[in-house]
Amino acid sequence: MARAEHVAMTEGLDAVVATSTRLSHVDGEAGQLVLCGYRVEDLAPNASFEEVAFLLLHGCLPEPSERAPFARSLAGRRAIPRAAMGVLREAAAAKVPPMDALRMATATLSLGRVEDPVDDALTAIASFPTIVGAYQRIANGEEPVPVRNDLPHAAHYLHQLSGVEPSAERARALETYLNTVCDHGLNASTFAARVIISTRSDVISAITGALGALKGPLHGGAPGPALDMVFEIGTPDRAEAVIRAKLDRGERLMGFGHRIYRVRDPRADVLAQAAERLWDRAMPCPGQPMGLPDVYDLARSVEATALRLLREYKPDRRLDTNVEFYTALLLHGLGLPTELFTPTFAVGRVLGWSAHCLEQLREGRLIRPQSAYIGPTDLHYVASRAALN
Ligand code: ACO
Repeated sequence: MARAEHVAMTEGLDAVVATSTRLSHVDGEAGQLVLCGYRVEDLAPNASFEEVAFLLLHGCLPEPSERAPFARSLAGRRAIPRAAMGVLREAAAAKVPPMDALRMATATLSLGRVEDPVDDALTAIASFPTIVGAYQRIANGEEPVPVRNDLPHAAHYLHQLSGVEPSAERARALETYLNTVCDHGLNASTFAARVIISTRSDVISAITGALGALKGPLHGGAPGPALDMVFEIGTPDRAEAVIRAKLDRGERLMGFGHRIYRVRDPRADVLAQAAERLWDRAMPCPGQPMGLPDVYDLARSVEATALRLLREYKPDRRLDTNVEFYTALLLHGLGLPTELFTPTFAVGRVLGWSAHCLEQLREGRLIRPQSAYIGPTDLHYVASRAALN
């Protein structure tokens, strides 16, 4: 009898504890997320991205004397290899989606450097805004803007996209987003990264693999469709009919439900407040059918209707708003097109992947679960004539 048959099997690994970590704790029943000891609602809207990066990579917040050197070391790694830029130009010519272009360019970050886990991690974190920004510009027929070392990380990402220095409010809104999504327990992409690095592979390989896991609509690919649904509904009075029709067709509502949270995802609240702050200051856009505050109000009403109908259709399953719903609103408010939502998620999450890789290298074992074989075991191979000839 195969050994796996003696072992309890959990399809999808729900409730399986596969490793220990000091990086983040997700309490799905209480709706809490703790990052290295700090509640997300306390840390994310108030800390700089650089502080949070130091926290995850070193386990504690930087001393005042450590802040500037760390920010400088990150900023000094923003330029990407020439080969990466070449890959981005080829990818844009082939109209590759931005997540795939990010994955392709990330794989080149090892070029011209000696492999080193910490340096690889810092390089990936610092390079992601450059890669995503450059690709977006090339894909739109514009030239990438040169990297700047004098801007903080979040502001630099917005600058890479637009070539314009963002206002403090816009940079703060993006910074809050990046901090909010930087780590989240053993989610699928982080698990993928830890599996890869657990073989004593390298950090760039692990991050490249994690990008593949993040891309899927059940993980990081949901915010675009979530916003599409809000726009498809268009006005609050249509919400009930459109959502009901989706649920009748057996469709999933993007931006709702979570494997771990049985209550509202705490990150949704952090992002809802950040979106509201940003949108409060947003001026109506002349000539646009719907100003930003109108979209925010519409989204609130879509959320309320969706939650009511999910309770009706799935009474046994607690389905609440997840991080992706308000990600969509915040990033839309920042003027990012939907195709950049998942790459922007990656700009934040690469920090968590990197920290998990370093932790796994320090403390982890090879991750190698078992599978329960359910195929036949009594077949006999008979060589066919065609194969012999
Ligand atoms: N809309 C409608 N029904 C849903 C939804 C949803 N958003 N989510 C789950 N359900 C239903 C399923 O259809 C299923 O119903 P059934 O038992 O009648 O067949 C039941 O709830 C359980 O679904 P599972 O797939 O077992 O739940 P799981 O824990 O695996 O799913 C997931 C979690 C993938 C996030 C799911 O809720 C989903 O698909 N949500 C929409 C996509 C989304 O928002 N993804 C982003 C997640 S956040 C993140 O990764 C950063």
